[in-house]
Amino acid sequence: MYNLLKGKRGIIFGALDENSIAWKVALKAHEEGATFVLSNAPVALRFGKINELAAITGSEVIMADATSLEDLDNLVTKSVEILGGKLDFVLHSIGMSLNVRKGKDYPEINYEFYQKTLDISAGSFHKVLQTCRKHDALNEWASVVALTYIAAQRAFPGYNDMADAKALLESIARSFGYYYGFEKKVRINTISQSPTYTTAGSGVKGFDGFFTYADKISPLGNASSTDCANFVVAMFSDLTRMVTMQNLYHDGGFSTTGVSQQLMDGLKEE
Ligand SMILES: NC(=O)c1ccc[n+]([C@@H]2O[C@H](COP(=O)([O-])OP(=O)(O)OC[C@H]3O[C@@H](n4cnc5c(N)ncnc54)[C@H](O)[C@@H]3O)[C@@H](O)[C@H]2O)c1
Repeated sequence: MYNLLKGKRGIIFGALDENSIAWKVALKAHEEGATFVLSNAPVALRFGKINELAAITGSEVIMADATSLEDLDNLVTKSVEILGGKLDFVLHSIGMSLNVRKGKDYPEINYEFYQKTLDISAGSFHKVLQTCRKHDALNEWASVVALTYIAAQRAFPGYNDMADAKALLESIARSFGYYYGFEKKVRINTISQSPTYTTAGSGVKGFDGFFTYADKISPLGNASSTDCANFVVAMFSDLTRMVTMQNLYHDGGFSTTGVSQQLMDGLKEE
């Protein structure tokens, strides 16, 4: 515990259950002295355990569909009121694809589902930022982080239209980061995380293969959700205040490794 977020206020989106990356971030942020509001889609109240997390971290819960500007208006204005001042950090930890859920392969995706994937998993990030800006809800040097995956840069079968959503998400971080940086010194980054066993992660076809392959290729092995929470907290802290508009790989070296000896040994013919 370093008190890295002492006195800082924020909003954490996307904690569904104890496996969620956002859940781990909330625990760490609380440990480091932050106060925050937890948010998730209304439907998550039925399936998830967000109220348990709220009790542990002493947080209020405000449900919001992150694609609804009305819900976001309510969330952002109430959060500033409840927390007693403007915000210093926001975590966007939101992803969902009906094409993935319904098993529609990428070449055959349903376009209504596709629009939803892009809106929920990427457009919502723009909406969150636009709403914060509209209400002037972020302090100078506030830090906004969204979670992404390397399928934005490379083809991974089964990741489906989420790959397109992640490419858009990363682009929004760069573009909005430009405007918000000049205007208010707000910094905006994406963190590209290793495969992680969560509800969203495990829903991807062939996830076990992604996980094992990445673990075998990465010199440090896969980064866990707790490792990810540590990195997110570092990004929310003042120790990283000049980092913005970046896609930051948090993957044990996966993104810059071609192949590992361990994997090649396993492929050798007898
Ligand atoms: N698990 C992995 O392998 C992995 C790897 C890299 C990046 N990520 C990203 O991390 C983020 C968090 O996912 P996770 O793995 O912790 O899984 P998760 O299923 O725990 O979290 C996804 C969250 O998105 C929320 N959500 C869905 N639709 C929403 C909406 N309309 N409005 C508000 N919230 C909504 C869900 O309720 C859930 O809490 C996602 O962006 C995901 O793509 C995950």
